[in-house]
Amino acid sequence: MAKWIFVLCVLRLSEIVCGEISQNYDNHTLVRLYPENMKQLEVIEHMVLGLEVLKYTRGLNDSTDVLVPGDQMRSIQEMVEKAHLKYDAKEHYGRLFDNVNRVAKRRSGGFSVYEYHSYNAIRDHIEFLAKKYPDLITLQTLGNSFQGRRMKLVKISSNPNASNPIIFVDAGIHGREWVAPAMALYLIERLVSDPSARSELAGLDWYILPVVNPDGYEYSRTSKANRLWRKTRSKPSGYDCFGVDGNRNYDYKWAVSGVSKNPCDGETYAGPKPFSEIETQMVRNVMLENQKRLKLYVSLHSYGNYLVYPWGYTGEILPKEWRRLDTLAKNVARAIYGAGGDHLTVMSAGKWYPAAGGSDDYAFGVVGVPYSYTMELTKGYEFIFPERLLKEVLPQYYIGFRVFANQIKKEFSNRREKSCLDDDSSCQ
Ligand code: ARG
Ligand code: ZN
Repeated sequence: MAKWIFVLCVLRLSEIVCGEISQNYDNHTLVRLYPENMKQLEVIEHMVLGLEVLKYTRGLNDSTDVLVPGDQMRSIQEMVEKAHLKYDAKEHYGRLFDNVNRVAKRRSGGFSVYEYHSYNAIRDHIEFLAKKYPDLITLQTLGNSFQGRRMKLVKISSNPNASNPIIFVDAGIHGREWVAPAMALYLIERLVSDPSARSELAGLDWYILPVVNPDGYEYSRTSKANRLWRKTRSKPSGYDCFGVDGNRNYDYKWAVSGVSKNPCDGETYAGPKPFSEIETQMVRNVMLENQKRLKLYVSLHSYGNYLVYPWGYTGEILPKEWRRLDTLAKNVARAIYGAGGDHLTVMSAGKWYPAAGGSDDYAFGVVGVPYSYTMELTKGYEFIFPERLLKEVLPQYYIGFRVFANQIKKEFSNRREKSCLDDDSSCQ
């Protein structure tokens, strides 16, 4: 056996066996810890060292979610009980993956925005939409991902010559967060195909990059063992581990907090240097090329139902403009709630938990985008948000984007374009 593994690894035939996590999660338990005081927060911080944490909380009205391998359950349970921590648990966590994520069979020719798709299918669909709506969509080729997947930016504009303010939305920088690309695709589809969305297009351009990290996304689709893959799939020289956390890789206060320096860390490795990843470079380039017109940036993630703004690298200080960031976010959250959606928690990213090198901080701090957010979609199913619920939640979040759009229009659209809002016919 050992000999075969050696051969496999020398020939690089199996990433899974060669220094990568090889377990599926069938014997893991998802433990959700609900801290009720500062002491318990501290206990949790120690308790989870070395475990795979799916979500952190630094505050008291939330949970820290951690995956505990079967053989460590006893000791964790003892600690939990000793600290009188409230918790709940889902056993045999990996078994949920298949049932929850069974990807629907393709119907011939159809692409439903209420399903999860392969990256190829997503790319084909975008090309298809661009052909179907040539007056609204232009595609800009950004380059290739590390593994060579072609990446295209979807630019939506009903008046490309107007130099409108731009809303830039990206998604899927973390492979496993499937609901985020699904939301980005829904946004594209709705903006171009819903006649009432013309109002979201009047005086505004939308640039949408639905999958920032296609390699990680595809990797998370290959097997149950890889379902929780977060990082890119680049290969640092001299290590047998793969990938960088794209959202720790941006060059603003790079690596000052909330990162790992260890390339084998499965979650938050910041990379050998800022913008080491071709995928984050592409997002950066979109931002810099459109610096002047870019007024709102939203990075879609999952999970937890949060809408957070800079700074992310620290919870100690807020930008001096925090009030307007906060107000808009709360209006968005209220609209989503009003549409029957979940409540989104609004705060600065760093107050939630400090983590440097995020795209939100870069957009705000370096590019000078006046409104910059990270939006964590959904709650309750961790990263395995069921496909069957997409139909319900994606339209709810869309209502939030309408509020974003109105604010950007109000503040930044030029007069003529703005008058189009009141009288759509004059815009043609
Ligand atoms: N869940 C996101 C992440 O860990 C949150 C990022 C918020 N922004 C920040 N700059 N910390 O990447
Ligand atoms: Zn994420």
